[in-house]
Amino acid sequence: MSDLVRLEVSDGVGTLRIDRPQQLNALNVDIQARIADAAREADRRDDIAAVVLTGGDKVFAAGADVKEMADMGYAEMADQSRRILECFNAVAGIAKPVVASINGYALGGGCELALCADVRFAAQDATLGQPETKLGVIPGGGGTQRLSRLVGPSRAKEIIFSGRFIRAEEALAIGLVDRVLPADEVYPAAVEWARQFVGGPRLALAAAKQAIDLGGGVDLATGLEIERQLFSGLFATRDRTVGMQSFVENGPGKARFTGR
Ligand code: CAA
Repeated sequence: MSDLVRLEVSDGVGTLRIDRPQQLNALNVDIQARIADAAREADRRDDIAAVVLTGGDKVFAAGADVKEMADMGYAEMADQSRRILECFNAVAGIAKPVVASINGYALGGGCELALCADVRFAAQDATLGQPETKLGVIPGGGGTQRLSRLVGPSRAKEIIFSGRFIRAEEALAIGLVDRVLPADEVYPAAVEWARQFVGGPRLALAAAKQAIDLGGGVDLATGLEIERQLFSGLFATRDRTVGMQSFVENGPGKARFTGR
């Protein structure tokens, strides 16, 4: 894995780190591919229970690499946009809890990357936004879809049409981020959040994530059926046997799960 994108593992928590600070972590084609690889690895590895997405303590990511895109034509972008989608879908598809730890700018593709996490923690001085219309385009990493599902279509339209910057406090008020913290506390808080899932009921967490993510795009009856199927499926796992037995014998919250 390149130095520009690293997957660091410590005590069950994987940190997917983007490290191209001189260019404000602009997500060029190479970095997108490496994020996808790292996300798939994080998904696969049994020694990772949950993932923190970070761009370091100065910037999360200022978007796709505009300098790289500037000379692309339609044919090239028609092809490249599939890879952008693959990258973001690989992150959103990590079947484990994922938290974005946001310092500094999370703009354009950077904001969209954060939207692929399950929750977002932001620094008090973080700046989010989808400024693509200012470049004469629209978000191409899922922004029109994931942002509108998260904050509602009217807010998403206002944010995307205007391309304006959103400060952390406003992001918190509209549900775009979940916690706002002093800058130096964001990453430690994200790691602590992720760590609660180490030794947790891996299959139940994955099922909960899948039910919520799949259910978000379908009608209520279909969503409830997805939930029913996943719920029933968990009765084939050792974790649910252990979880319920432990409750009956010792009371709540004492089960020791194996992730099987
Ligand atoms: N692409 C390529 N390079 C970028 C970049 C980007 N998205 N954002 C910043 N950089 C580069 C700058 O060109 C500059 O490089 P040089 O030192 O080599 O000139 C370096 O990072 C530092 O940036 P600035 O000098 O601009 O720093 P600043 O503090 O004055 O401004 C900023 C910071 C407001 C974030 C500004 O850099 C900016 O507006 N960046 C672009 C934001 C943007 O439009 N993002 C959307 C991209 S399109 C997209 O993401 C499509 C999609 O949906 C997939």
